[in-house]
Amino acid sequence: MSLVAPVRGGILEPMDGERIVVRRSGPLQGEVRVPGAKNSVLKLMAAALLADGVYELTNVPDIVDVGIMGELLGAIGVRCDLLADGTLRLENTGQITPVAPYELVERIRASINVLGPLLGRFGQVTVALPGGDDFGSRPIDMHIRGLEAMGAEFELDHGDVMARIATGTGRLHGTDIVLDFPSVGATENLLMAAVHAKGETVIHHAAREPEIQDLCTMLVGMGAVIDGIGTSTLTIDGVAPGELHATSHRVVPDRIQAATYMAAVGVCGGEVVVRDARHHHMEHVLARFARMGLETSVGPDSITVGRDARLRSVDLATLPYPGIATDYKPLLVTMLTVADGVGIVTENLYPGRFRYVEELQRLGADVRTDGHHAVVRGVPALSGAPVKAPDIRAGAALVVAGLAAVGSTSVQGVHHIDRGYEDLVGRLSSIGADVERVAV
Ligand code: EPU
Repeated sequence: MSLVAPVRGGILEPMDGERIVVRRSGPLQGEVRVPGAKNSVLKLMAAALLADGVYELTNVPDIVDVGIMGELLGAIGVRCDLLADGTLRLENTGQITPVAPYELVERIRASINVLGPLLGRFGQVTVALPGGDDFGSRPIDMHIRGLEAMGAEFELDHGDVMARIATGTGRLHGTDIVLDFPSVGATENLLMAAVHAKGETVIHHAAREPEIQDLCTMLVGMGAVIDGIGTSTLTIDGVAPGELHATSHRVVPDRIQAATYMAAVGVCGGEVVVRDARHHHMEHVLARFARMGLETSVGPDSITVGRDARLRSVDLATLPYPGIATDYKPLLVTMLTVADGVGIVTENLYPGRFRYVEELQRLGADVRTDGHHAVVRGVPALSGAPVKAPDIRAGAALVVAGLAAVGSTSVQGVHHIDRGYEDLVGRLSSIGADVERVAV
């Protein structure tokens, strides 16, 4: 195991002593390139458990979570090396211990993604139960019910979820699974279990985020048989363990990071070309940006975004893809804090995901929350203050908010941002933002 978190950025451990200091900026100008998606690459890495061989993932973001997932896979038996050009080499020699220990699971929620592939291929797995998140409880009941329907038995023992295949065949069996809700993680785990199940598995009401399509594409590249990719009904024809092979795959660009740079233009004005942004993955959020007054023009793999008049308020609600992702919401709320008018925001995925609102209030934002709704009354400008990032996306949104705040905003909790953003500060600086990382 040679991958530490992360290897290219030179940041070996999250450094709580650092702050991101932001000053009012704009107009922004230039070009910024979006790296590969965190919420895709972590699952693609888990897919390397499914077959022996050497995998090459390209367009891999240099983020802390890739390092932690690499450590977890290393503990299980897959060696991960992140190269300087953004290529992640994973080597699975078949020497696998199907156990995901708590020390690693508690550091990264996506570690639950090893459950499906390990169970499907090796017939047993022990994964420490992931805890809650900074924005609330995150159960895995749908993962478990789906795998039980495929023939798995579960036991909870001292905080570990232990699963094994109940029948004597050593393989899960295909079946029809109807998810209560299009859960991203449950869809991914069931997919990766189903590729080795005996017979056909149909996942109804499946999540269809671009990152899930990316995982399906990689699995097909490994020899899996999947129909309905990109739809809410995925049909998987299982193949016997040993029939899949290693592959090379380019990670889909990160739509949330793309939206982050667009939101920065939203609050600062200017015109920026966001390279490697896929407009067809962002249709609903782009439509909302347009209603708020952002001008966008799309190319095959770029989006040019501009804004020269004050933003206008809109109402919005988060929904599973293709709706507006919950991960965009802190950015949209931040834009609304300086828009003309009142916007009502409804969170439908994580009721507790409004914690950053108190931080925005410290910057002078007029936001009131009631349950899973927020009412945002735009003010002409925010006012810089020290704030604390509660999670990855809210952390990035607070940096964006600082760009619209008179004076200086100092964002603590930088380690959250480093989990999912590759060089946010460098990228924002490159388009003219007044932002820096400082040690304290
Ligand atoms: N849920 C259940 N039971 C389950 C599974 C999910 O009740 O068995 C609930 C969750 O508690 C939540 C909702 O369903 O309220 C959505 O959960 P989902 O499974 O779709 O999300 P996830 O797989 O846990 C991924 C991303 C999140 C992103 C969500 C929604 C990764 C590693 N995480 O989480 O991203 O917000 O999908 O799009 O892919 C982030 O990147 O900062 C982040 C939190």
